[in-house]
Amino acid sequence: MIISGQLLLNDLPDRARIEPGYVRIEDSVIAEVAVGQAPATCDAGGPECLVTPGFIDAHLHLPQFDMQGAHGLPLLQWLERCTFPDERKWADADYAAAMTHRAIDRLFAHGTTAICAYSSVHADGTRAALRSAAERGMRGVVGQSLMDRNAPDDLCRPAQQLLDETTSLLDDFRPGDRMAAAVTPRFAISCTPDLLAAAGRLADERSAAVQSHLAETLPECEWASELFGGARYVEVYRRAGLLNERSVYGHCIHLSDHDRQTMHDAGAIAAHCPTANSFLRAGAMDRRATLTAGAKICLGSDIGAGYETSMVRVARAMIETASAVGDSFPVAAQAWRQITAGNAESLGWPNAGNLRVGDPADLVLIRPGVPWLSSSVDPLSMLMFAWDDRWVERCWARGEAVYSAA
Ligand code: GUN
Ligand code: ZN
Repeated sequence: MIISGQLLLNDLPDRARIEPGYVRIEDSVIAEVAVGQAPATCDAGGPECLVTPGFIDAHLHLPQFDMQGAHGLPLLQWLERCTFPDERKWADADYAAAMTHRAIDRLFAHGTTAICAYSSVHADGTRAALRSAAERGMRGVVGQSLMDRNAPDDLCRPAQQLLDETTSLLDDFRPGDRMAAAVTPRFAISCTPDLLAAAGRLADERSAAVQSHLAETLPECEWASELFGGARYVEVYRRAGLLNERSVYGHCIHLSDHDRQTMHDAGAIAAHCPTANSFLRAGAMDRRATLTAGAKICLGSDIGAGYETSMVRVARAMIETASAVGDSFPVAAQAWRQITAGNAESLGWPNAGNLRVGDPADLVLIRPGVPWLSSSVDPLSMLMFAWDDRWVERCWARGEAVYSAA
């Protein structure tokens, strides 16, 4: 299979660029990347198309796909009234499998081929989601949302049960597999100190990915501090052994420079979720201060608090919100890099996010409906700001066509 077009290249450290060329897929991998050459024949694409690595969504919630855009209440009320009722449905593993199937089809249709996802508290539902995601060819991690307090009774479990269940998921979906389980304490508020500490030990033993939320809203920060004897929020995770280079923390808004330094020292990753932050009026993450502290950043949709499925739209929101905190304005070429190689680098995924020979063929073919090459001095900016989801023409995961526009 030969796909031609403008290739999105990530060979510069801070921004993507385009060059005409083609990519050849053989079996499940990229077999050839020809830059500056037109193919003799091609199966898909054309000179006006963009060929990009599949997008990486570093933070989303699979059980929340049917509630995107529902009531922008403040976080804690939103969880109570909107989120938990939807997550309760995942007690039925068949429902979880079917919903994951649908969610992943939607992600592929938007060009997303890799995810860091939360499931619900249900072990069977999480297993079904992992299985369904793996079968569809998605890449990434899914974690059982661990909760043993401060959530409805039927969504809490004893700590030991949660640990046993997540251990079993890690046995079956191993770290490093294309679809792996992750240790996912939902946030400090929903976890007792014992659960957090045991989760930290488990993640360490298995070298597993860790996901959680950190400092999304001020009431949440105050509550976390009360629950953990006045400790700083980030310290709660650090002391539990949950702050390391495999851990991805959603939001990271209400942090001090010292907190950001703590994240940097541990190698932890901040998942910036600009659409969710504006939807729940959580505040604006200081991307520049986070980068200045040397902490790693990745970008996520945070579906369903995030109302956008497309990572291109989330990237655009990152640009739009940056100025609110006095960030130097990231340009579109940087944002394109962020949702491909940038996220892969922050997450430590060496063979994702690039058009590179030998990497899994996770690719998107975009046919823009605007004359982006002829009339613009900054084609990648024009594409991002004029973006239309209908431009996604095809998507491949591991070389298999997983989406084709009608
Ligand atoms: N904090 C704890 N759980 C959640 C969640 O599901 N969504 C968001 N945005 N923040 C959270
Ligand atoms: Zn989240």
